[in-house]
Parts: sequence; structure tokens; C-alpha cells
Amino acid sequence: MPAVVLVGAQWGDEGKGKIVDYISRQADMVVRHQGGSNAGHTVVVGDQEYKLHLIPSGILYPETWCVIANGVVVDPVILLEELDYLQQRGVRTDRLRISAQAHVVMPYHKQLDRLQEGARGAAKLGTTGRGIGPAYMDKAARTGLRVADLLNPADFAARLREALEEKNRLFRAYEAPGWDFDQLYQEFLDYGQRLKPYVTNTSVVINRALDENKRVLFEGAQGTMLDIDHGTYPYVTSSHPVAGGACIGAGVGPTRISQVYGVVKAYTTRVGDGPFPSELEDAIGEHIRQVGAEYGTTTNRPRRIGWLDTVVLRHAVRVNGMTGLIVTRLDVLDDLERIGIVTAYRYRGQLVTDFPESLGVLEECEPVVEMVPGWRTGIGGARRYEDLPPEAREYLERIEALTGVPVRVVSVGRDRAHTIERVPLF
Ligand code: GDP
Ligand code: IMO
Ligand code: MG
Repeated sequence: MPAVVLVGAQWGDEGKGKIVDYISRQADMVVRHQGGSNAGHTVVVGDQEYKLHLIPSGILYPETWCVIANGVVVDPVILLEELDYLQQRGVRTDRLRISAQAHVVMPYHKQLDRLQEGARGAAKLGTTGRGIGPAYMDKAARTGLRVADLLNPADFAARLREALEEKNRLFRAYEAPGWDFDQLYQEFLDYGQRLKPYVTNTSVVINRALDENKRVLFEGAQGTMLDIDHGTYPYVTSSHPVAGGACIGAGVGPTRISQVYGVVKAYTTRVGDGPFPSELEDAIGEHIRQVGAEYGTTTNRPRRIGWLDTVVLRHAVRVNGMTGLIVTRLDVLDDLERIGIVTAYRYRGQLVTDFPESLGVLEECEPVVEMVPGWRTGIGGARRYEDLPPEAREYLERIEALTGVPVRVVSVGRDRAHTIERVPLF
């Protein structure tokens, strides 16, 4: 029953796309179970770069099934663009399956996302503007439209009329233009027809694969600290990036999951607003941003940079039940003389080792930073753990000691080849 869940351990952009692509070689199926086109996953194969927002990063392997499960909010415009983009590049997409139960991101969700952010002024969350929050709001409010609705003209008409009546009232309050039924109706029915060959009951598909002892990989989007319950609320996304989210978002039971791996960037980044205790607003932070090209895949915003924060990691290990870590981007730290690791926070003179529940407390926390020696040499050529310089291994072993979880894989570059698998992941 080899079901593996891969989650982001920090604030997203840990390199999940690269790692999912790498593991997909060993997987029969890759499942996306939450989030939407707010995700930006980059996969590099030789001289080719692929940027994916909705389609699982396993798609580049012609034998691997890819599933967009019920927990994802699907923007059909972006999904169809992505399908075209992959097909034009010669990637086979016939093994994609989309849940009939997945909710649809409508243009009014994107408009509402922008209006809500505008109204928040200085207290903005820094969302990706992809309509994610409003789409999940409608899901919880039971006014959402699902992929199945796009395939049923009569149901879709009724539900769209109902949704638009409410949304247009809201847009009038914002003094913004509303949406016309006829235009959206036809447009989205057409999208439904184009997506129809892929649409099915994905819970059945995934569970059947597990029954047949197939290797299923659950690909998390975003990261633990962006989880709506376990992240830095309200500076979070509106879904459950944590491992438990895979069960709800894919229609599989918790008893079926065998391993949970956390993807950890060798330092910390965050796009969007909110407290960030280990943030480096200095020349070292700028150096890491430049060397690591730390600009958002979806929005191109400069990512905020900080030292690796093991208070965050211990929280992520706990709420995800992680059984292994996958450390990425270790090579970005190659030039540094000394590297910082946050081991705890200090709050009003007290040492804090568990990630604070209150944002107010978090805002006042000062990081306790341990400095360790850097390796000052290029590690991109390392293919076995033993190839890494002693300082790099000591850094990884310090992370293991501070989190209590073994480092299973180390990534030292963008390509598939730049990967050190210490223990097989499946
Ligand atoms: P994701 O959202 O977690 O999939 O991560 P992103 O794709 O948004 O950002 C990660 C970036 O780091 C991508 O450009 C990857 O190609 C790149 N990357 C992944 N692993 C490594 C690594 O080990 N070293 C370097 N230098 N880049 C990496
Ligand atoms: P991947 O899968 C990094 C952040 C946004 C913002 C907050 C809420 O590539 O790791 P949203 O649009 O979701 O309502 O924005 O979440 N955010 C991400 N940050 N990586 C992501 O995805 C993100 N998806 C959302 O920047 O702070
Ligand atoms: Mg990303």
C-alpha cells in the first residue's frame, strides 16, 4: 500500500515540483488534492523548463497517471491553457483525470480576490489574485459550482443564476461592474465540453490504484505555514496543504497513507505578507535572493528570505506526522562563509521552542540563531551523500538533530540529475 504524501514544510516554493517530478519516475500515479492555480511548480529536464499551476508535476512521465482530485479548485481557463502548453511541447496528457466534485474558479472569484485585497489596504494578505479564497468561500457557503455542473446545462444554469444574483449584489456594494449570465454560461459550458474526456470519480480511481498496490504520490501545493488551520492565519491560503489534507482532498482514508515527506528549502522564503521571524533584510538575504533567483513562479514577486527556521520545521513535523525530510536548494548556500539556523525564539525574555499559536506573540519573537560553518565550494556535482563536503553534511545532520526526522533526499540543483537519494522514497 505504497501511498506517499509530499508536503511543503515552510511557506511554499520549497521545490516540490522538482521533487515530485523526480519521484514520479518511481510512481504510478500523482495526485493534486488542494489549492489551485496559486501554486507554481517548476520542473527542469535538461534544457527544458516547465511551469505548472494545476496539472501534477508527474505529467512529464508518459506512463504516470495524474489526478486533479476533489479538493482542488480548478480554473478551467488556466487548466486548458496548461493542457495546450504541454501538448504543444509534445507532452502526453491523456493520463490526466479530473474530479467531477472539484470546485470551479469563476472570473468573479478572481475579481473578488482583487477587490478584497484592495479593501484591506495596508493589512493586505498578498494573495496571488487567482481567486482561491473566494472559490473556497463559495465551497464552504455551499454556493460553489463544481466541474460536474459544467457538464449538465440545466443544473449549471440554475446554480450560476443563483450564484450571480448574490455576487452581483456584492459587486454593486464594491461599486464594481457585475457579471452577465449569458456570457459566462456559454463560455463555461464550452470549457466543460473540452474537459469532459478527463472528468471522472477520482476517489474511485485513486483507491482502485491503491488496491492494486500501485505507487501513489500525493503532491502538496503551498506549504504547512500557509495551511488555513496550522499556518500563520490570516496570512495563509484557504486550503489544507498539510498531509491530512490529502485524505479529504482526494477521498482516501488516513489508514492508506504510508509515508509523509516534508520538502524543506535549505533556508526559508515567503511571498506575500505576514510575520517571518527568521527574515534577513540585509546583504546576505539579497545574496540568497540573487543566487537562488527567488522570484515567485506565479506572480514574479521577489520572495522574502530568511535563515532555516527549525521552530517552523518542528511544527511542520508535528502537524504532518513527517517520516522523512527532503532538503532542496542546498547549493544556493555554496558561497556563504557562515550559515544561520534558527533553533528557538525569544519572547519577552523567555525561550520559545514550539511555534506560537498567536500572531501577536509571533510578531514579537526574536530568532535565536546558531551559526555554523559554510562549505564554500560548488556542490552541484555531488551525486552521493558522501560526495558532499563535511560542512554540508554537518548542516544536514544538525537539521536532523533539531527536528528528529531523517533527511532522505538532498537536492543540489534544478535538474533531475541534481538529486541525492539516500533512502528510496517508495
Ligand atoms: P514549488 O512551488 O515548491 O514547486 O517550488 P517552485 O518551483 O515555485 O520554486 C522552486 C525553484 O527552485 C524552482 O525554480 C526549481 O527549479 C528550483 N529548485 C528546486 N530544487 C533546487 C535545488 O536543489 N537547487 C536549485 N538551485 N534550485 C532548485
Ligand atoms: P506553491 O505550490 C508560495 C501565498 C500567497 C499569499 C497567501 C495567500 O508554488 O508552493 P492565495 O492566493 O493562496 O489566497 O494567497 O499564500 N501562496 C503561496 N506562496 N507558494 C505557493 O504555492 C503559494 N500559493 C499561495 O503569496 O501569501
Ligand atoms: Mg511555487
